[in-house]
Amino acid sequence: MPLYKPTANAIARAATIIRAGGIVAFPTETVYGLGANAFDEEGVKKIFKAKGRPQDNPVIVHIADEKDLLRVAGDIPHVAKKLIAKFWPGPLTLILPRNKNIPSIVSAGLDTVAVRMPDHAVAQALIKESGVPIAAPSANKSGRPSPTDASHVAHDFGAKLFILDGGKTNIGLESTVVDCTVSPPIILRRGGVTLEELRRVVKNIRTVGGGKIARAKSPGMKYRHYAPEAPLVIVPGVGPRLLRAVAALLQTSRARRIGILATDEHLPLYMRLHDARTITLSLGSRRNMKACARRLFALLRKFDTLNVELIIAESVPEHGIGAAMMDRLRRASTSPDSHY
Ligand code: TXA
Ligand code: MG
Repeated sequence: MPLYKPTANAIARAATIIRAGGIVAFPTETVYGLGANAFDEEGVKKIFKAKGRPQDNPVIVHIADEKDLLRVAGDIPHVAKKLIAKFWPGPLTLILPRNKNIPSIVSAGLDTVAVRMPDHAVAQALIKESGVPIAAPSANKSGRPSPTDASHVAHDFGAKLFILDGGKTNIGLESTVVDCTVSPPIILRRGGVTLEELRRVVKNIRTVGGGKIARAKSPGMKYRHYAPEAPLVIVPGVGPRLLRAVAALLQTSRARRIGILATDEHLPLYMRLHDARTITLSLGSRRNMKACARRLFALLRKFDTLNVELIIAESVPEHGIGAAMMDRLRRASTSPDSHY
């Protein structure tokens, strides 16, 4: 396995690869990234190729020092400065006017650029050692659940990729993306920083959900994403109502193995289903949604290894990190309203 513990030596090797125009995978506090020198068009092309990523889906540029912001962006609006002061380093990506040093391919031809400063010692050390900002999407094959463990990256890319192994990521969902080039700013993607936290700093910030505006503004939003191999169906409700909905789905399904993505509180209910086809995996207790979020992508990948033919997922309350979890589940799902 091409996994390297993030020693000073391994980070120096990874930085050498980046400077030479290559790509490496590295941990951040959200998910693993697949990085290249953000100034190097040929390097960034390799990311798109390795991921099988559509050319019209721009990538995020990662910096480790606020001083580097002006190397990648310009005309920083006041509201962006406020968000940076509060949330960087951390899981918040800002859309800003692009500095022309950043090749157009990074932004998929847009005149904006997405920038974030990860809150992870290995990511920061790699960026500093490379001496350049690092362009990096999540380190998964396009359309797959984002990697929250080095083994997920190795599974998607195999033996050729240099992977810094920082263990499991802490947040487990991607950064929140906020467009600061419009007033008031718009949340283009829910993520590690919640709407409630953002509203405390920018009262009039807007959300656009997964609707048309978000799809037009953030090209990545239009693709089916985060998807396990089996079709995924989200079931609303809790308690007996949830159980009835799951039982109804089981009755009509011809799948030979069925995964149930559950929470601890409902495990006793599923015992009553008596359906030998089901395999139930729990995200954890609903009282700790952050811990549930951390496990979401890993469990979606786990269902792949168990060869389930259908995944039935509980829904979670759409506040705090739960809003980002539901966004990811909808994008992974096959219901008509979320199938772009
Ligand atoms: O937490 C994260 O954000 C992780 C880690 C590695 O930093 N990265 C990540 O990258 O999730 P990616 O490429 O999987 O998602 C980037 C999102 C996409 O939805 C993309 O369309 C959007 O950011 N994006 C990037 N540049 C943009 C731009 N200039 N304007 C609008 N949306 C942009
Ligand atoms: Mg991604």
